[in-house]
Amino acid sequence: MSGRVAALRGATVSLRDDPFLRPSAACLEHHDDALIVIEDGTITVFGDYAATKDRLPAGVEPQRFENALITPGFIDAHVHYPQTQMIGAFGADLLGWLERYTFPTELMFADRAHAETVAALFLRALFAAGTTTAAVYGTVHAHSVDAIFAEAERFGARMIAGKVMMDRHAPEALLDTAERGYAESRALIARWHGRGRLGYAVTPRFAPSCTEAQLDAAGALLAENPGVHLQTHLAESEAEVAWVRELFPARADYLDVYARHGLAGPRSLFGHAIHLDESAFARCHACDAALVHCPSSNLFLGSGLFRLFEAVDPRRPVRVGLGSDVGAGTSLSPFRSMGDACKVSALGGRRLDAAQAFHLATLGGARALGLDDRIGRIAVGYEADLCVLDLAATPLLGFRTSWCDSVEELLFALMTLADDRMVRATYVAGARVFDRDG
Ligand code: GUN
Ligand code: ZN
Repeated sequence: MSGRVAALRGATVSLRDDPFLRPSAACLEHHDDALIVIEDGTITVFGDYAATKDRLPAGVEPQRFENALITPGFIDAHVHYPQTQMIGAFGADLLGWLERYTFPTELMFADRAHAETVAALFLRALFAAGTTTAAVYGTVHAHSVDAIFAEAERFGARMIAGKVMMDRHAPEALLDTAERGYAESRALIARWHGRGRLGYAVTPRFAPSCTEAQLDAAGALLAENPGVHLQTHLAESEAEVAWVRELFPARADYLDVYARHGLAGPRSLFGHAIHLDESAFARCHACDAALVHCPSSNLFLGSGLFRLFEAVDPRRPVRVGLGSDVGAGTSLSPFRSMGDACKVSALGGRRLDAAQAFHLATLGGARALGLDDRIGRIAVGYEADLCVLDLAATPLLGFRTSWCDSVEELLFALMTLADDRMVRATYVAGARVFDRDG
């Protein structure tokens, strides 16, 4: 054994399998009193304390968390860090909100120092919310991506990000060209992709802001760089879908626009995906593209209700993660997203149970990102990205959680009541990156 060794002790909860495909009770793994030993950022011992305490390395005293719940670090599979400064800006609908608030905000990122300030604040806010991995949009400015990657690297966080590509339908100063989008993205991939825990996502903003030439450039980047992700928006609002129909009349539908340019595949992350029909879900399954449910944003902008249970239909399941979509989403807290996901499913006539919601925010998010062999679970061999929740963070939480008889009931209550105040500590690769009381 060498390097950094740490140990945590307390109650834990983690998913071991997909509760949309198997009974929830079989997927949840819960320990009232567990030991987690971390060596060089990886979990090397995990299990009931009584059964594993003999494997505690000599001289290591576990940090004990009482009245707490240790979870995997949460995964935000769709978020715009430059929009941190405009969360909650009033917008009539998606397209109006982009024009009125988003583009003016993103213009400010021409200033590298501004990008660095916001990146630093954003990453600390993510950790304070209990999130340890995110798929992050920069702006069109390549240095906006340098800023977020540099900050993530300082903490050793597993982070995915990319430079927005857009060459039409936005203010001139926010546009690149197909050639520049390609060249700048390529340089960013060379600089950052696979460096430590960082990964690049080719990021055409959405079909309306990209010419065919730019979508081709994105497709070339994806084909030439195996392992990079593709992130974009898909079928978020009805007006947007109608616009795409006008702009790409030869395509069968919105998904087909991306597919024709080689952008629909196993590394693709399509945000929102609200206005999709069965054929589009089936094509996502066939090409193994992942969808990102962004309920907070969809409720805020009134974009529509994502049909989660249709997406994950076991007959042709599509991988789905959970995204805050800040700044159209109104909170970075995974609890807000989980709670909103529950309400959206209820409006669609289905109840999301606690294991399913936690799966979306942890192991399911990791599966959507193709990272479920290393993050999203508490298990031996997994990277030690963890969140410690204080079950008595407020008098109300302490009172309510004391009345929970099962871990399922506890998780469900947390989904509606919890927020950042409950996050006692966040660990990235075994190192504490956030300490509420420290
Ligand atoms: N579609 C294109 N750009 C954006 C964005 O920044 N936020 C959201 N929610 N949808 C988009
Ligand atoms: Zn978005």
